[in-house]
Amino acid sequence: MMAKSARNKTIDFDLDHAPAGVLEQMLTAGDDLTSRDAVLDHSINGDSFKILPQLPDGFADLALIDPPYNLDKRYDGLKFKHLNDHDYQTYTQRWIDLVKPKLKPTASIYVFADWQTSIAIAPILAQNFTIKNRITWQREKGRGAKTNWKNGMEDIWFLTQDDKEYTFNVDQVKQRRQVIAPYRENGKAKDWQESAAGRFRDTMPSNFWDDISIPYWSMAENTGHPTQKPEKLLAKVILASSNPGDVILDPFAGAGSSLVTAKKLNRHFVGVEQSKLYTAWGIYRLQLADQDKTIQGYADGVFWERNTGALQRRISKK
Ligand SMILES: C[S@@+](CC[C@H](N)C(=O)[O-])C[C@H]1O[C@@H](n2cnc3c(N)ncnc32)[C@H](O)[C@@H]1O
Repeated sequence: MMAKSARNKTIDFDLDHAPAGVLEQMLTAGDDLTSRDAVLDHSINGDSFKILPQLPDGFADLALIDPPYNLDKRYDGLKFKHLNDHDYQTYTQRWIDLVKPKLKPTASIYVFADWQTSIAIAPILAQNFTIKNRITWQREKGRGAKTNWKNGMEDIWFLTQDDKEYTFNVDQVKQRRQVIAPYRENGKAKDWQESAAGRFRDTMPSNFWDDISIPYWSMAENTGHPTQKPEKLLAKVILASSNPGDVILDPFAGAGSSLVTAKKLNRHFVGVEQSKLYTAWGIYRLQLADQDKTIQGYADGVFWERNTGALQRRISKK
């Protein structure tokens, strides 16, 4: 096996080499999962279709749902097979029927999908929730295609249980942008701030997210999971649609990205993941979050544009 470069921070231990405490903290179907106290701030290893019915009802303020997209994909040896649209809709309705009883009446739900999966699930989501928005996340990476446009985006559906009563903290998800053409009125900066480190403006967040890259090998959050979501992306969702102390449910938790981000932002969480290995990586990341609560790309209460690391560091020091 090739040795990893010193800058490669990827978490990819195997189960025989799990760090101390990781396997001991993992819950499974055999544990008592029926009370809020038993499951709060835990990662459960098992099949969500079997675990969800065991969980207490009405505990979640926010559900983050990142299921297998409708593609052939292997997750730690377990294969998800592409379904026809009708069957993927049936699969979607199955998890909705199990997730919905776990939600508070004021809960929000975010569902991740690629554009093809989105076409199939949109009517099902509309039948079960209020659709508030469809966010486009522009990913940097994507596989090139010779006979089609390369896919460089994903959909994130923002849904609520109630049309009017739900949490949305717009001031907590502002984006800090460098000002290219600073405008002054009567000699004073208009809607931007001047600092020795540069000029910037905190802008209202839109439904087009072009400031978040996928995790890569030199980032502390990176794991061996094939479709891991970035903490910066989950931080936006969690800050906008929950409050400190709220509970976040993730029934397809993968390497625990949403759980770790929830912990870093002082929210509670309950995660379910079918792969024991991915669950272990997630629990290890939760352990690391005891020491380090930083989220790359989010600092001083604002989200930063891509490639502004140097500016970020200068402003953060002031
Ligand atoms: C798209 S990935 C989620 C990645 C996750 N958001 C992250 O950042 O690591 C989907 C995950 O769902 C898991 N999964 C698929 N079917 C499942 C089921 N029935 N119960 C629990 N987990 C499941 C897969 O193993 C995979 O890790």
